[in-house]
Amino acid sequence: MSRSAGIIGTGSFLPEKIVTNYDLEKIMDTHNDWIVERTGIQRRRIAEKDVAASDLGVKAATAALEDAEVRAEDIDLIITATLSPDMNFPSTACIIQEKIGAFNAAAFDLEAACTGFIYALTTAKAFILSGQAQKVLVVGVEVLSKLINWEDRKTAVLFADGAGAAVVSGIEEAGIMSTALGADGKGGKFLYMPAGGSRMPATRETVDNKLHSIVMDGSEVFKFAARKMAEVSEIAVRKCGMTLNEIDYMVPHQANIRIIQNAAKRMSIPMERVYLNIQEYGNMSAASVPVALDEAVKKGYVRNGDNLLLVGFGAGLTWGAAVIKWNK
Ligand code: ACO
Repeated sequence: MSRSAGIIGTGSFLPEKIVTNYDLEKIMDTHNDWIVERTGIQRRRIAEKDVAASDLGVKAATAALEDAEVRAEDIDLIITATLSPDMNFPSTACIIQEKIGAFNAAAFDLEAACTGFIYALTTAKAFILSGQAQKVLVVGVEVLSKLINWEDRKTAVLFADGAGAAVVSGIEEAGIMSTALGADGKGGKFLYMPAGGSRMPATRETVDNKLHSIVMDGSEVFKFAARKMAEVSEIAVRKCGMTLNEIDYMVPHQANIRIIQNAAKRMSIPMERVYLNIQEYGNMSAASVPVALDEAVKKGYVRNGDNLLLVGFGAGLTWGAAVIKWNK
């Protein structure tokens, strides 16, 4: 059994099509200035009509496997974090397994909304440390453009599409030093999709009333987000005997620049040490953290030996943080 679990490769994939705030001005009552000031988002990537989560997930997964120099057949578990799967079942993880040829892997989806990647990373580490897996492929992927009510400006300007992945392996060095997760089901009503499940299956009425799309009380989510990001980060660093002062770089969930700035301030982490790509991609939910991580590493912001903090929050409500000694 390995002593620890670490990320040995990352990859990401974004759809080609760029939709700017100015493009949105043409189809709904909104303004570039409002979106930039309130959220930090300038543009986002939107998948073509015939593209589903597994299509993006496969590309990110393939890039992560190449980066890790691991063959698909050597993966023994795939965890896909998503709230926009190809279909209710089979899982998107099973679809990805077939497409990449990871025939020795068990596969399942995990749903913790925007915290999904951190929940999945925590699960991957647990599988490895308990000896049930040696190499786990974690994929965070969303095609939220298909879950948006494009007539609701309060949500349509925020969400977007993309995929990120990481290969997590048993290692002997430090790696993923600690993770901390939390949830509060009482806040479920602030961010949800009313129809399409067993509570309200699809009918002509649910479709006509646009109940198969994201409903959000933005200010309620806003209120809890920055506080929880700081709280859960504090718990995660304490768990591995560190303090927030020892964090070299933070990769937060990219939902709103004001939330990120507020959280960083609460943690006394200067913005120069925080990765931001929200201006380019908007909120990609479970894909947000792995895409940001892949970019931060490939651009050289994260170096070997750095103490890295991944932190996120999302529907559920859920939240989570991971402290990683970067050593790839
Ligand atoms: N364009 C122009 N005006 C808008 C738009 C828009 N796209 N959206 C809302 N407005 C208007 C509102 O109608 C309102 O007008 P009114 O005062 O005349 O009623 C005004 O702008 C202010 O609206 P608020 O909702 O109060 O704006 P706020 O400053 O709270 O910003 C926002 C809204 C950006 C959604 C913010 O609350 C937020 O980011 N919340 C967090 C959301 C989030 O992170 N969600 C993702 C969670 S992750 C997951 O699990 C998927």
